[in-house]
Amino acid sequence: MEVAERGRQTQSLVSLDQLLSDDSTFCQERLTYQPPLVPVFRSGSGSLRPLDTFKLEALRAAQEQLPYVSQNKLVEIIPGKILQEQPRRLGIVLSGGPAPGGHNVIAGLFEAAKRAHPENVIIGFLAGPKGIITGKWKEVDASLVAAYKNSGGFHMLGTGRDKIDTAEKMAKCRQTCLDLQLDGLVVVGGDDSNTNAAFLAENLREIGVQVIGIPKTIDGDLQVPGLLQIPFGFHSASLAFATEVGNLNSDCKSDLKYWHFNRLMGRSASHIVLEVAFQTHPNVVLIGEEIEDKELTIHNVVRLIADVIVERAKRGMNYGTVLIPEGILEFIHEINILIIKISYIIANYNREAAEEESFHKLPFEDQVQLIDNHDIWRDYDSRVFLGLPPELQRGLLLPRDSHGNFQYALVRTERILLDMVATYLRKQRGRGIYKGTFKTQNHYYGYDGRGTFPTKFDCDYGYNLGVTAFALLANGATGYMAALRHLHLPVEQWQPIGIPLAPLMHLEERKGRLELVIAKQKVDLDSPAFKIFTQEREKWALEDHYRFPGPIQFTGPCAEDRPLTLMLNAFGS
Ligand code: FBP
Repeated sequence: MEVAERGRQTQSLVSLDQLLSDDSTFCQERLTYQPPLVPVFRSGSGSLRPLDTFKLEALRAAQEQLPYVSQNKLVEIIPGKILQEQPRRLGIVLSGGPAPGGHNVIAGLFEAAKRAHPENVIIGFLAGPKGIITGKWKEVDASLVAAYKNSGGFHMLGTGRDKIDTAEKMAKCRQTCLDLQLDGLVVVGGDDSNTNAAFLAENLREIGVQVIGIPKTIDGDLQVPGLLQIPFGFHSASLAFATEVGNLNSDCKSDLKYWHFNRLMGRSASHIVLEVAFQTHPNVVLIGEEIEDKELTIHNVVRLIADVIVERAKRGMNYGTVLIPEGILEFIHEINILIIKISYIIANYNREAAEEESFHKLPFEDQVQLIDNHDIWRDYDSRVFLGLPPELQRGLLLPRDSHGNFQYALVRTERILLDMVATYLRKQRGRGIYKGTFKTQNHYYGYDGRGTFPTKFDCDYGYNLGVTAFALLANGATGYMAALRHLHLPVEQWQPIGIPLAPLMHLEERKGRLELVIAKQKVDLDSPAFKIFTQEREKWALEDHYRFPGPIQFTGPCAEDRPLTLMLNAFGS
């Protein structure tokens, strides 16, 4: 059929331009949503009041390295109006992995700033912290905000993982702020980026630049008990993964044929796996923190999965779903020791080596030999290392990220575990214990979920975090993280606060050295959500209780949903 003819036939429904437009109907629809303001901000930017009910204390190392910002006290924001006479110039940077809701943080900051003074200016740094170091930026205006509101990704400005960790980089940031005559800077990021924010706050104070951090990470591990339940982005990414796992539940139950091994992003902590487990009720769920607590070896973990497969086979159920946290290796003590030692050896070697001879330019055999010859490497380490499947051995040697973190996302742990389980089942078959069939599929859900559209919760949360950051800046605060309390309740009851960054920091081994960084919060095995999970999982393992959460909804009865782990923890507290 000719294009013209086809055009005529579809004309009555929709135009050709609409059909070929870059903007999907879904995106256009989303742009029209205006997140509601938390009540405190309805009468103005708000003012600050100390919140004395929580005791937060900074480590001595934090007091020494951050003498000014470590004095900060916890504050709440209460209704109030600041009269801003002079326009202010504020920067914003998106940092680390993308998280759904980031564009709404920018929208919240921009709209709060314009409400306070129409000549306030927002400058967006490009490609993450590198944009501050190299002075690459663009002005955020109303049309840019309108084009990205309620959308996923970080592509309005781009992002990056650069660390501002040398005096030279700090001096460049300082110069950029001076050149742009900035009064304030908002850093949207996870633990490492908020660490950057604390040091920037300390160092830019003398030139009058205030710095506020925003809690972002799909991993969910930026939490402060009683003050910050979850960072933005976690809900959307978890729901995106849950949609996929729910679909696999549906497929494997229909076809009765496959075991699906799913690795879910989330770096080290298993918050995402726990949330997706409640959303989908899979047959096997591995929680890294529990594996560590029970001191399980990798072979114990393999057996734990295989036992469920054998049991289900006895019931004629040769199918199922398995959830594996991306960071499981960190929680298996013997492997974690290898990761720490190898990271140390790589960092020390690279400090001395020329770029072209850096560790990752060496052939695999030379890398192994270098590790083998190092003082901190014991015979026991070699035995454990050589007993691992070759893919895992290579995985452990992969390059660390710019912060010295092991890059869990790059190791195909689901495939490695699947192969190890298959080997173990073959042995069990030989012993007459296993009589089932083991057909498998393996999946990794990560970058897809962190690029998803934000849930309504993350749209409202991101927006109000941006507004809270403006309130803190407008009231002269620096070295704080913007946060909202009572997230399990309706937006009407959210309480904006400023959490001092310094007390959130601890000393951690990075690139072979002890560094002051914001501490990650792992899954709390005493939390109500985890306890409920341990009561439910046996039933999920052997009977089928699959739950199908479906895709993210923006309207209708599911639109107001919150993370299930958040709700369960709130019920139990
Ligand atoms: P952030 O901590 O910066 O939010 O990033 C989280 C994350 O998505 C992890 O879940 C994942 O392990 C990692 O980033 C992947 O990093 P990269 O984008 O550098 O591959």
